[in-house]
Amino acid sequence: MTVRAVATGIGHYLPARVVENSEFEKTLDTSDEWIRTRSGIERRHFAAEGETTSQMAVHAAKAALAMAELRPDDIDAVIVATSTPDLTFPSVGTMVQAGLGMTRGFAYDVQAVCAGFIYALANANGMILSGQAERVLVIGAETFSRIMDWEDRSTCVLFGDGAGALVLEARTGSGHSDDRGILSVDLNSDGQYRDMLYVDGGVSTSGTAGKLRMQGNPLFRQAVEKLAATAHKALEKANLGAESVDWIVPHQANIRIIQGTAKKMGVGMEKVIVTVQDHGNTSAASIPLALSVGVSEGRITPGQLLVAEAIGGGLAWGAVVLRW
Ligand SMILES: CC(C)(COP(=O)(O)OP(=O)(O)OC[C@H]1O[C@@H](n2cnc3c(N)ncnc32)[C@H](O)[C@@H]1OP(=O)(O)O)[C@@H](O)C(=O)NCCC(=O)NCCS
Repeated sequence: MTVRAVATGIGHYLPARVVENSEFEKTLDTSDEWIRTRSGIERRHFAAEGETTSQMAVHAAKAALAMAELRPDDIDAVIVATSTPDLTFPSVGTMVQAGLGMTRGFAYDVQAVCAGFIYALANANGMILSGQAERVLVIGAETFSRIMDWEDRSTCVLFGDGAGALVLEARTGSGHSDDRGILSVDLNSDGQYRDMLYVDGGVSTSGTAGKLRMQGNPLFRQAVEKLAATAHKALEKANLGAESVDWIVPHQANIRIIQGTAKKMGVGMEKVIVTVQDHGNTSAASIPLALSVGVSEGRITPGQLLVAEAIGGGLAWGAVVLRW
C-alpha cells in the first residue's frame, strides 16, 4: 500500500479585462499577425488596477475547494507558486489563508518562475507522502502585467495574468502506475542561464520590483530540448512510456515550444491542452489554468494519464506525471 497525492478539485480565475493583440498595435511597432505566428497568442487577461495576485488566488482556490467539496478548514497546507507576490512579505500563501477564512494549517510560497507550479506540486506531494499534510491546496497565481516594460515589444506582448488552484488529497494506492495521483516528479535548474530570463530589480539590489528581461531566441532553443528531456525522465520514473500519455498539460509560453516538445516526446498535438491563445504566458499560473480549462471542457477525465511540464527563469524546469 502506498500513499498517493490525488487531485480532487481544480479551479481558475481570470481577470475581467481581455486585451487582444491588436491593442498593442496602437503603441508599439508590432502586429497581431507577428504575435500570432511567432507565439500563438491571440489575447491575454490583465488584472484591474488594485487587483492583486492573492485576490486572484483566492478566487481560484474557492472554485477548486467547491469541486473537491471541501471547506477551507479541511485544508492542511496552502502552497502558492508565484514570482509576482502582493508584497515582498508576508507570503501570498498566508494571504490566501486569511482570504479563505482558514484558521488552521500552514501556508507558504515557492518561487521557480514559470516552472513554479511544477515545483509547488513536488512540494505538495512531499508534504502528503511524508505525512505532514493530508489535504493541500496548490496554487499558481501571477500578475506579470506589473513587471512588463511596455516599450519592449519582444516581451510585453507575451505575458498575461491569472490564477489556477488544485486540491491534492492523500489516498491509498497500490504503488503501481495505474494508481490515481502524482506518480513521479522530475525537477531541474541551472543557474548559469540567469541572464536568459530575469527581472532587473529586487529587494537587495535596486529596492524596486523591476521589469522582465528576456533573450527570447536562445531561451526558445533551450526550452524544447529541456522540456522533452524532463518529461521523458518523469515518465521513466513512473515506469511509463510516451504511448501511455493521454494529455500533455504544458506550460503555455509559445505554441511553437508546445508543438516542438510534443513532437520530440512523440505525442500528437491532439493530446495536448493548449490555452496559450487565450491566456498568453501566465508563468506559474499557466499549468493549473490549462488543467482547469481541460477539466471544465470535459476533455480531461478521471483515470487519464497527464504529463505537466514547464521551464522558466533560473533556468528552472521540470515535469510531473499524474493520473487524474
Ligand atoms: C519571444 C519569441 C516569441 C520571439 O520569436 P523568435 O522567432 O525567436 O523571434 P526573434 O526573437 O528572433 O525576433 C525576430 C524579429 O522579430 C522582432 N520582434 C520581436 N518582438 C516583436 C514584436 N512584438 N512585434 C514585431 N516584431 C518583433 C525582433 O526585434 C526581431 O527583429 P530583427 O530580426 O529585426 O532583429 C520566442 O523567441 C520565444 O517564445 N521565446 C521563448 C519565450 C519563452 O518561452 N519565455 C518564457 C519561458 S517561461
